[in-house]
Order: sequence, then structure tokens, then C-alpha cells
Amino acid sequence: MHFILWLNGHQTRRQNTPVENSKNIYIETYGCQMNFSDSEIVASILKENGYTYTEDVLSAGIILVNTCSIRENAEERVRKRLHYFKSLRKRNPGLLIGLLGCMADRTKTALMEEEQLLDLVAGPDSYRHLPQLLEQVGTGRRAIDTILSVDETYADITPVRLDSNGVSAFISIMRGCENYCSYCVVPSTRGRERSRDAASIVRETRDLFEKGYREVTLLGQNVNSYSWKTGDRIITFADLLGQVAGVNPLMRIRFATSHPKDISDDLLRTIAASHNLCKAIHLPVQSGSNHMLGLMNRKYTREDYQERIETIRKIIPGCSVSTDIIAGFCDETEEDHLDTLSLMNQVGYDAAFMFKYSERPQTLAADTLTDNIPEEIKDRRLREIIDLQQQLSLASNQKEVGKTFEILVEGKSKRSENQYFGRNSQNKVAVFTKTQSGPGEYVMVKITGATSATLLGEVV
Ligand code: SAH
Ligand code: SF4
Ligand code: F3S
Repeated sequence: MHFILWLNGHQTRRQNTPVENSKNIYIETYGCQMNFSDSEIVASILKENGYTYTEDVLSAGIILVNTCSIRENAEERVRKRLHYFKSLRKRNPGLLIGLLGCMADRTKTALMEEEQLLDLVAGPDSYRHLPQLLEQVGTGRRAIDTILSVDETYADITPVRLDSNGVSAFISIMRGCENYCSYCVVPSTRGRERSRDAASIVRETRDLFEKGYREVTLLGQNVNSYSWKTGDRIITFADLLGQVAGVNPLMRIRFATSHPKDISDDLLRTIAASHNLCKAIHLPVQSGSNHMLGLMNRKYTREDYQERIETIRKIIPGCSVSTDIIAGFCDETEEDHLDTLSLMNQVGYDAAFMFKYSERPQTLAADTLTDNIPEEIKDRRLREIIDLQQQLSLASNQKEVGKTFEILVEGKSKRSENQYFGRNSQNKVAVFTKTQSGPGEYVMVKITGATSATLLGEVV
């Protein structure tokens, strides 16, 4: 159920003068892949309604910023950008500025009323209403719609692929999250967990294959709890992966993110059974200390996590494992921190995303714990985690030297016109001399060298 709130009020309002480029929309996106995927849905909805997408902010009549709340610095960046966009109104008085995504509900009052930065605010479940909202804003009124839904999945909307390399694309398979990890703002910004119709996901994959795409990443905050009821049958995430892999053996399938508490053996066996289900699992651990995992409400222990890693390695030999880690969570002792370092060493992660804890409003941690680790200690611990991961990534890449991998070519390497880059099933980037096979094709590459970020090789 949705409703739209119009703010007329007593605030000073510009009367928007229509300008020639008033139907040109520029979209800037922050945050996770789901947000990028949402921007493609937004672009599609607006295109259907007569708007044109532009990559040039200066030629836009409407600027939409799709925002992220995950850490404080993510919000700060957006706020600075909004001030810049507001300054563009000097040259284009009719310019409309809208805020989408995870900051919408949290910051609408401050950004719209106090700082006068916005004409429109739409939350993650309100994008179907954007054409109406924009129309109303065009007549000089502000529009806000941040109501979260229990069933919106945008399943019927074919995304307009933005910034696409024509080879890989994202498909959102679910929305929201109900895990309530104590540090995390997502359950409050994106609402209830809901899965998207499996048939629509398979259809979208097929459509992408026919357009030349060769890799899709299925997205959700916790894909293992995907569940779709059709007739009297429940389609689980493992079932869905099987169906999507069946679209074409040349279509590679990736997914993110798996929660360690829910990654099942059944899923691992499904991955092992299909060549085109990529042998790469992103399994965020957050901390190696049971004390921290308890306070974080992650619902698994270090030992549970290690058992999952052993099982992954048993069922899917050669599978890469990456993770997310938070440094300096509430009450974290030096011993807790050392537990994280020792777990990283034991698992030998191939890659990791590493963050300093940032307290977020409306989370369990903000309400019940104290953000009590001094900034300089958080910085030092994060530094140690990053340094260790650098070594682990290098070791992980060096052990590939001499092996030959099937690489999906993605495009020209940034370093040299004469080189291509692509990735192997394990999600490792390889750079190699250009061949006749171009983007979207598979080549066999023998690895001859490695840095912590890249494999270097030759086509064989
Ligand atoms: N749903 C995914 C990831 C969501 S956010 C999962 O559960 O794994 C991506 C990552 O951001 C998280 O894994 C976590 O490491 C980090 N993160 C989330 N909230 C944070 C916070 N308040 N401070 C610092 N890092 C945070
Ligand atoms: Fe946040 Fe936890 Fe949900 Fe991931 S699983 S989005 S970290 S609450
Ligand atoms: Fe950020 Fe929202 Fe994604 S808070 S990480 S954009 S779900």
C-alpha cells in the first residue's frame, strides 16, 4: 500500500520554469550493487514515461541521486554532492533535484526542509510513482514518498542497462532484509524481505543472453533465504540457481550475498554440479570473535563459520572465498581483533571488503550498545586487517601461476590498448594479450605472473 505526501507548507518555493532539457534525467548512484540495479529500474520506468537518460549532468533538467546509508561517510558524500547540484540551479533555475534510495526516509526532513536541497524524495519501494511525483514537482510542489512495501519487487520491469559493458549484468532477485544484524541500517531502509517471481528471473536471464550478455549476478541481501511459491511447490535459492544455469551453459551465474548461517550443503552441491555456476562465494564473516559475533547478532559462531568453509572446500574444490569485515565494533578488545586476524589467516581469503565500524541511527547497536572504540584504534585495527588481506590476496593469486583458466573477456585493459581483461570462474581478474576473441567470448589463459589484485597471463 502506498500513499503520497505533498508538502506545500510555508517554505519558500521556486516556481519551476520549464526548460528545454526538463525531460533529461541524470542519475547518480551510491552504495551496493542492489542500488545500481535499482537505478536501472528507475531509468526504465522513466524512459517508459517519456524521459531521456543523460550521462551529462550539465545537460540534465532533473538530477536523481540514488543514495546509501550504510556508513556515515556514505551519507556525507551525498550531502556534499547535493550542495554542488544545488549550485547548478544558478545556471538552470528549473533544475529539479531528487533523492532516491536508502537515505530517503532517514534524511528527508533535514535535506528537504532545513537545507532546501531537494524537490523530491522517493524511497526504494516507490519508484513506480516517480512519473507522478515528477509531474507534481514540475508544478512547483515538493513530493515525498518513502513508504516501504511488503510485496514490491519490480518483477515486471525490464531494467535499462546503465554503464554496461554488454557482458555482465545484475539481476535483483529479492529486496529488503530481516536479519537485523545489530550494526546494520538495511532492515530499516529497505524493509521486509521479499522474493521475486522465479519465472521473471529466468526470463530476464534469457533476455540478457539473447542480447549478448554472458554473466549475470543474482542480487539480494541474503540470497540463501530466497523462496518463491508456485502452485504447491516452493522454489529455493538452490532450485533457482539450477533454473538460471539451465538458460544456457555459456551464461555464467554469480550471486551475492550469502549469510553464513543459511548457506546450505544443497546449495553447494548445486554449484558444484554446473560448470556455469561460478566457483566463488562471498561469505561475510564480519568478525573472528564469538564475543563480537554475539553482539552483532550474526547468529553463528566462529566454529560454525569455519565448518561452512571446510564444507565449501570439500564440496566445491578450487572455490574462492571472499568476505566482509568490520573493525572496531562496540566493546571490541585487542583479543577480539586478534581473533579476526587469526580467522583471516586460517581461511586464507582470496579477497575482502574491510570497513571501520560506523554507528547508524535506528539500529540495535545504536540503541543498546556504545560506540566506544576510539577512532585511532579503529584506524589501526582496520590498517592491520587491510595489510593482512593484501598478503593473503597476493598469496592466493601467486598460487595460480602456472595454471590455465577459462576467462570471460570483459574489455580492454586500462593499462594497455593491446591487452584485454576478464575474470575466471573464481572471480579473479586476469590481464592478457589481445586475441581475436573479444568481449563476451571465452578464452583459455595460462597464468604467468600475479600481483595482489591481478593475474597476468597468455592466451593458449
Ligand atoms: N547483506 C550483506 C551485506 C550488506 S552491507 C551481508 O549481510 O553480508 C555490506 C557490508 O557493509 C556488510 O557486510 C558489513 O561488513 C558492512 N557494514 C554494514 N553496516 C556497517 C556499519 N554500520 N559500519 C561499518 N560497516 C558496515
Ligand atoms: Fe545488514 Fe545483516 Fe541484512 Fe546483511 S544480513 S543487510 S548485514 S542486516
Ligand atoms: Fe547502502 Fe542501501 Fe545498499 S544502505 S549498501 S545502498 S542496501
